[in-house]
Amino acid sequence: MVDHVVGFEADLGENAMRVVEADGHKLLLAKSGGRCHAVGSTCPHAGAPLHEGVLHDGVVTCPWHKAAFQLATGRRLEPPAVDDLPSFPVRIADGQIVVSLDEQPDRIDPVRHEADGDTRCIAIVGAGAAGTAAAQTLREEGFGGRVVLIGREDRLPYDRTVLSKYSLSGKKGGEKTPLQDASFYDRHRIERKIGEVTQIASAMRRLTFADGSQLGFDAALLATGGRPRPLDIPGHDLDGVHLLRTAVDAEAIVRTAGRAKRAVVIGAGYIGLEAAGSLRERGLDVAVLAPQRAPLEKQLGADIGNVFRRIHERKGVMFHLGHEVSALEGSGQVERVLLNDGTILPADLVVAGLGISPETDLVYGLPQRRKDGGLETDRCLRVTDGLYAAGDIAAFPLHGSGERIRVEHWRVAEQHGRIAALNMLGRSIPYNAVPYFWTIHYMQRLDYVGHAESWDEIVVDGDLEKPEFLAFYLRDGLVRAVAGWQRDRQMASIIDLMTGRQDWHVTALRQAVG
Ligand SMILES: Cc1cc2nc3c(=O)[nH]c(=O)nc-3n(C[C@H](O)[C@H](O)[C@H](O)COP(=O)(O)OP(=O)(O)OC[C@H]3O[C@@H](n4cnc5c(N)ncnc54)[C@H](O)[C@@H]3O)c2cc1C
Ligand code: FES
Repeated sequence: MVDHVVGFEADLGENAMRVVEADGHKLLLAKSGGRCHAVGSTCPHAGAPLHEGVLHDGVVTCPWHKAAFQLATGRRLEPPAVDDLPSFPVRIADGQIVVSLDEQPDRIDPVRHEADGDTRCIAIVGAGAAGTAAAQTLREEGFGGRVVLIGREDRLPYDRTVLSKYSLSGKKGGEKTPLQDASFYDRHRIERKIGEVTQIASAMRRLTFADGSQLGFDAALLATGGRPRPLDIPGHDLDGVHLLRTAVDAEAIVRTAGRAKRAVVIGAGYIGLEAAGSLRERGLDVAVLAPQRAPLEKQLGADIGNVFRRIHERKGVMFHLGHEVSALEGSGQVERVLLNDGTILPADLVVAGLGISPETDLVYGLPQRRKDGGLETDRCLRVTDGLYAAGDIAAFPLHGSGERIRVEHWRVAEQHGRIAALNMLGRSIPYNAVPYFWTIHYMQRLDYVGHAESWDEIVVDGDLEKPEFLAFYLRDGLVRAVAGWQRDRQMASIIDLMTGRQDWHVTALRQAVG
């Protein structure tokens, strides 16, 4: 056994986290409940330095996209990380902290049970964030029957969030993608099936594929995500006009960008703005046009939306807000974009980010299917007997208020996948997390915790010009959501605090995060 002394116990305070080196390995050394622990120092999701996050009640929350890990074991508790942290045995000798590196890290084998004669079949329709998390959870929980993970895309499940960021900019992000390699699915007997499901008969527990074949199931999860809303204007089918949802879409945009000089992005939501920034980073002239007064106005309000406008304008992006696009023109290839006020913008690449519609056409005759395509679930993400929904399609009751919401957030989709999987195995676990998403512009991230479709007031702590701030969205006197820029550690605390309590007054929450 090779032991390494990494410090004195008395020097490490409760909930303190510190990076130490042992034999060339960087470890996160931390104390919780009076005990010292050592785990890997970087987050397996995208490489964040975990000591810059928060340690509370034995749980380390990552400063970047808020994955959470159990300090004592390294086990991941919350996504977007899909892997555990390596964990190293620690002992105290004569007041010194001694870490042992040569023993096997206390990894949790995702498959604790091999095939055990269980004849059940769980079908997961959708191999994205929610579906992949569900499949992994089923095996982690020891389910021994068949797990069939169905997706349209002929590639390993990947991180969709990088498409509008690093795939378009060509810069390097740290996100692990594909989510797992091919051997992971083989090792854990997750059957990956490429195909289009055209119908799901939940009462008969059977689904049908486009080629007419069928699959019977004992329980099924629908996690089919969203389809980008199409551009419904003349010229939408010209070459060089793109939507963005899949890796294939992103690759097509990059090909067009390679021969383009001027890009027009239609839509000033998250994906439109991220795409605008990435294309700018790639060196194109970029214009953004949208009908609203400020980017992200509906999601964040005009003041915070204008923070994004300034960030992009400083990088050279032009905005044409308050206008609708009326047509795209060109001979074969798009050459210009016409606005309803007569403005003409030259363009050899157009990306439309107009939002999504839930992909639920395959569901017939269920009262839970709403006009907007969302599927209503109960708190356990159950749609009806044997059928669950997760991710972008799920209209679920928000913990605390009970308000039924549908959100399009990567981390929520992965959390949903996990909860739905546990419930397909016979548990009754409600989805009680607070929603969280991030968006990245020129390598800087906005974090958003909570859910506020409307608000009475936004209280800002910080400087919107710099920018560096927390923005608290209040309705009926309570904090419904918080957006944070350059406030990683505080946002990691806020996610923790708002998960525990839903009735925060702004003064109390500000005091609690310090
Ligand atoms: C470009 C982009 C950037 C984003 N950036 C962020 C971000 O920074 N932060 C954030 O929080 N969220 C982000 N999101 C949103 C996030 O990616 C989604 O919320 C998340 O992917 C939803 O997961 P899901 O499992 O519901 O659906 P998806 O991940 O979309 O997976 C759906 C799966 O269903 C399959 N499928 C659909 N219909 C069928 C069918 N009929 N038969 C078989 N298979 C089918 C698809 O092939 C796919 O595998 C981004 C989204 C996009 C498109
Ligand atoms: S780097 Fe830790 S959650 Fe993304």
